[in-house]
Amino acid sequence: MTELVLGDIRKSYHHVEVLKGISRRIPDGTFFTLLGPSGCGKTTLLRVVAGFVAPTAGRVHFGAEDVTHVAPHRREIGMVFQDYALFPDKSVFENVAYGLRARRRPNDEIKRKVGEYLERVGLGGLSNRLPTEMSGGQRQRVALARALVIGPRVLLMDEPLSNLDAALRVQMRDVIRSLQLETKTTTIFVTHDQEEALAMSDQIAVMKDGRIDQCGAPDEVYRNPRTAYVSRFVGSANLLEARPMGNQTEEVGRFEVNGTIVTGRTMSEAADGRYLVVARPENLGIRKASGAPGEGEVAGRVRSLQFQGYRTSYRVVLCGGEEVNVETFGELAATPLGRGDEVIISFNDKCLFVPEASS
Ligand SMILES: Nc1ncnc2c1ncn2[C@@H]1O[C@H](COP(=O)(O)OP(=O)(O)OP(=O)(O)O)[C@@H](O)[C@H]1O
Ligand SMILES: [Mg+2]
Repeated sequence: MTELVLGDIRKSYHHVEVLKGISRRIPDGTFFTLLGPSGCGKTTLLRVVAGFVAPTAGRVHFGAEDVTHVAPHRREIGMVFQDYALFPDKSVFENVAYGLRARRRPNDEIKRKVGEYLERVGLGGLSNRLPTEMSGGQRQRVALARALVIGPRVLLMDEPLSNLDAALRVQMRDVIRSLQLETKTTTIFVTHDQEEALAMSDQIAVMKDGRIDQCGAPDEVYRNPRTAYVSRFVGSANLLEARPMGNQTEEVGRFEVNGTIVTGRTMSEAADGRYLVVARPENLGIRKASGAPGEGEVAGRVRSLQFQGYRTSYRVVLCGGEEVNVETFGELAATPLGRGDEVIISFNDKCLFVPEASS
């Protein structure tokens, strides 16, 4: 049971700062995800927590213990990598037993624990196989059992699902999350897949260029992105220029978007007065055009659509020339409009406003 505390972590390589002061308290038992594009510093931060990379500045605490200068093998961590990193010439049993043997645990305990963890990951009958005789999903289950069997203080996973095919990836999300909940292991999970992050995490830290841009529960980050960057990186968002109408320092803002008035929450103040509206595809309404658009509405034309049964996705060109994605669900999705149809798009009050400079 370990609370993890990152205190102003910085890391430079050749005078280039790739971690720019990361501070976070990760409560005991949390599934904490680092989400961000390639090169933003996810692996470097994970390796600082593991002890493979020494930070240029800052401290790492596991509970009350300052582990900043503790060697990796003394930190009691479990690690799972993208490429499994199993011993190819050792059986599944011996791969999982590795950490316990290194800790000189008695044989009967090793047998019992390895058996238990192989059952937990659904590989009960395969202990004598070699990793080379297994599928990618099975190998990743071995890696997970190996990481957890030692009862680590912290579990660290670096893109563990990215080598698996799409269906298996979704299935393994459940395997990992269920085991993490059962064992209550404080976990840092690295991914650049926002769906994975939303589906698995207690907390998501959206990283940008060596910093955490926003951190919160999945629904919080999805519903209340504070920057244009986060709105784009988590879920999909239509971002359109929004001109403030009056005083925008209050929580509720009034903006002109594409010639109509849209109201919604202003997430933070733009120093230069330039804003974007964040409209999720499900926060836009669509109906066949009849009469002139009213307040909060814009005329447009359906450029393309994809009917998917329970939902329909539209690509609509607004009268101002900009394009938006709109999604309808259930009944509405069952009667799709047609390509080329003249439509009215409406903004609902879940739309948000963010500074343009936060892109
Ligand atoms: N050993 C190193 N020496 C020099 N630069 C490094 C080193 N390791 C990482 N970097 C640089 O630090 C930055 C962050 O790298 P990091 O591997 O943490 O990114 P990442 O978010 O994990 O990316 P990806 O999604 O591609 O795995 C990159 O610009 C990378 O080139
Ligand atoms: Mg990486």
